[in-house]
Amino acid sequence: MSAESTFLKELHVKFIKQLDDNKDELEYWTGEHLRLSGVYWALTALDLMHSLEAFQKEEVLEFVLSCLNDDGGFGGFTGYDSHLLYTLSGVQILATYNALDRFDKEKIVEFVSCLQDRTSGAFRGDKWGEVDTRFSYCALSCLSLLGRLDAVDVPLAVNFIDRCKNFDGGYGNVPGSESHAGQIFCCVGALSITKSLHLVDADQLGWWLAERQLKNGGLNGRPEKLEDVCYSWWVLSSLAMLDRIHWISKDHLRKFILSAQDEETGGIADRAGDYPDVFHTVFGVAGLSLLGDETLKKVDPRYCMPVYVTNRLGLGS
Ligand code: FPP
Ligand code: ZN
Repeated sequence: MSAESTFLKELHVKFIKQLDDNKDELEYWTGEHLRLSGVYWALTALDLMHSLEAFQKEEVLEFVLSCLNDDGGFGGFTGYDSHLLYTLSGVQILATYNALDRFDKEKIVEFVSCLQDRTSGAFRGDKWGEVDTRFSYCALSCLSLLGRLDAVDVPLAVNFIDRCKNFDGGYGNVPGSESHAGQIFCCVGALSITKSLHLVDADQLGWWLAERQLKNGGLNGRPEKLEDVCYSWWVLSSLAMLDRIHWISKDHLRKFILSAQDEETGGIADRAGDYPDVFHTVFGVAGLSLLGDETLKKVDPRYCMPVYVTNRLGLGS
């Protein structure tokens, strides 16, 4: 059968496992500095495919620990400066392995909470100070996984996100910046995690998101852009949080994701014919899970983690 209609699970597991086996070839992880996030993408894809055991738990935890800095944050790789992007990935991996208690949670909480600007409510990504709704999401998701949302000013954080809302119902990276499906995932995710979804104009934003589906079934991230498998996640998870997933054609999107599978090497690419990578593989797999594929574990649209993990942490919606 062609990849158009079959999900090539065994091949995808092999593709991801091979990345871990080739530790000397770090370019496999789309660049050394992205490695901790790469581990989170790989682990989440494996877990959703019921194959978590393909990675050695203790080996992964040892690597995660090596990325933890004295300031309580995680760098993208051993010896790199802490950043909220990698701190979230580190916490997500620990949560998946049920290993949060093995680390100094309070130190991590302190790193995250110090990055909030107590005037605007926004979050800086690191000590250098760039502000972006991606970092608001990372901080709030991370603290929620740690059960410590109380460590920051949540109403102020929510207010900053609300100020990033545009006339089209979408959200950008800072106030006044154009709507982008990746940032919309971050803002809707953060609002959902903080139980503030009433601030979203769900019909207007749902319409904007549904408009992202193109004739070939794929989704783009902004008007006039090409379809891309990773937007199966950014757009679909946002629609799921707004309870409007049925506003797009699910069958059509499933076919598009399956068409981007590499039938020889395994793995999923941004679109058919391109090289597969672990980033598009996790978002393709997570997208298929949201579309209701029963051979996969259910994914939590707020956290991009398996539902059993967020349930175990008492974060059920
Ligand atoms: C598009 O990226 C995606 C975003 C802007 C969202 C990124 C979200 C995070 C970093 C939060 C953590 C995510 C998860 C799943 C836990 P892009 O640079 O590919 O955009 P482009 O398509 O415009 O190039
Ligand atoms: Zn992409």
